[in-house]
Amino acid sequence: MSSPKKDSQKPARGHEKKQKRIAVIPGDGIGLEVIPQAVKVIQASGAEVALTHFDWGADRYLRDGTTVPPDGFAMLGRDFDAILVGAFGDPRVKTNIHAKEILLGMRFQMDLYANVRPVRLLDAALCPLKGVEPKDVDFVVLRENTEGVYTDAGGVFKQGTPDEIAIQEDINTRKGVERIIRYAFEYCRTHTKLDGSPRSKVLMCDKSNAMTHAGGLWQRVFREVSGEYSQITAQHMYVDALSMQMVRDPRQFDVIVTNNMFGDILTDLAAGLQGGLGMAASGNIHPGRTSMFEPVHGSAPPIAGKNIANPLGAILTAAMMLRHLGLAKEADKVEAAVLEAVREKRTTQDIGGSLGTREAGEWAAKQVSRR
Ligand code: NAD
Ligand code: IPM
Ligand code: MN
Repeated sequence: MSSPKKDSQKPARGHEKKQKRIAVIPGDGIGLEVIPQAVKVIQASGAEVALTHFDWGADRYLRDGTTVPPDGFAMLGRDFDAILVGAFGDPRVKTNIHAKEILLGMRFQMDLYANVRPVRLLDAALCPLKGVEPKDVDFVVLRENTEGVYTDAGGVFKQGTPDEIAIQEDINTRKGVERIIRYAFEYCRTHTKLDGSPRSKVLMCDKSNAMTHAGGLWQRVFREVSGEYSQITAQHMYVDALSMQMVRDPRQFDVIVTNNMFGDILTDLAAGLQGGLGMAASGNIHPGRTSMFEPVHGSAPPIAGKNIANPLGAILTAAMMLRHLGLAKEADKVEAAVLEAVREKRTTQDIGGSLGTREAGEWAAKQVSRR
């Protein structure tokens, strides 16, 4: 096993204890390009962090068969305060087994049940919708992250015959549904919008008109938990209608809570409102435990290795991680630098600039270090 690389920010003497320990796993494809830019920006922010790099991903898997080293998840939970991840997925690994074991492994085995995916428009020029301003797009999707169809329960029978049967089960537990719905109400209660106004609505999204067993559980739990939060408006939409509304009028959304699969799909759609997948950040959270932060996008094989991937989603993800670690001042600096990059078009081509991945990362890092 190759040993992890240490890359510590030099701590001021006597400050070692305050250092936050961050595991960095760039992964595959553009993950290997955008994460180094996020790391530069973290270092430029002056955050007291110790970064340890891990080579988990397709290359490692193809080299020695390792996806997650023995004790890997226990080690992450024990030795780190947070994990910064790029993306997993490589055309050479047709089964995608490494992505399943590393990425879904972290989410499931570390029980990171709340996938927090903020949706914010930084500049009107980035939104494909007419007349939509930054103040109009400031919502969050809270995606259940440990259950649903992602458990991959089921099986295939009579494979390769005309009678083949494939069963993909949707697992929803009372505990799992309740904790993500409760998380959504608590998130609404404790978070403001970017303009400082309070959040006030939680919308639960399901497909309970067709999937009545799972939908029924979500409906009952949502009704019960919402009853404890009389100051918060509880709303419901079916996922098909919600998809239409997200494109027609994103102004109406505040906090959206939904299951694993609907949350996955809706957050790529929502990334489209923000300027594309290159702009979307996320956190995989279990309150009080080591949590994991990753951009919403994947490894994007068609653009990998060309220095054209947008690093801002990864950089905004780093800001989210810093904020989670209590480093709000540093997170503010990073977010302000990203806003400036967007406004001044010091960005990659996907959002209208002319810089490469590295150059965009360096520009953002320089802005951060000046603040
Ligand atoms: P993707 O998110 O990797 O990319 C889709 C397209 O969006 C890209 O081809 C590119 O045109 C654009 N894009 C994405 N990120 C961008 C960026 N930072 N800058 C500019 N453009 C960007 O989705 P996909 O093509 O469906 O998946 C590719 C691989 O990534 C698959 O193996 C998939 O399973 C995996 N994946 C991994 C993660 C993860 O690890 N978190 C997330 C999504 C997909
Ligand atoms: C994401 C990705 C993953 C998911 C894939 C790679 C399994 O699309 O993080 O959004 O579906 O959760
Ligand atoms: Mn996805």
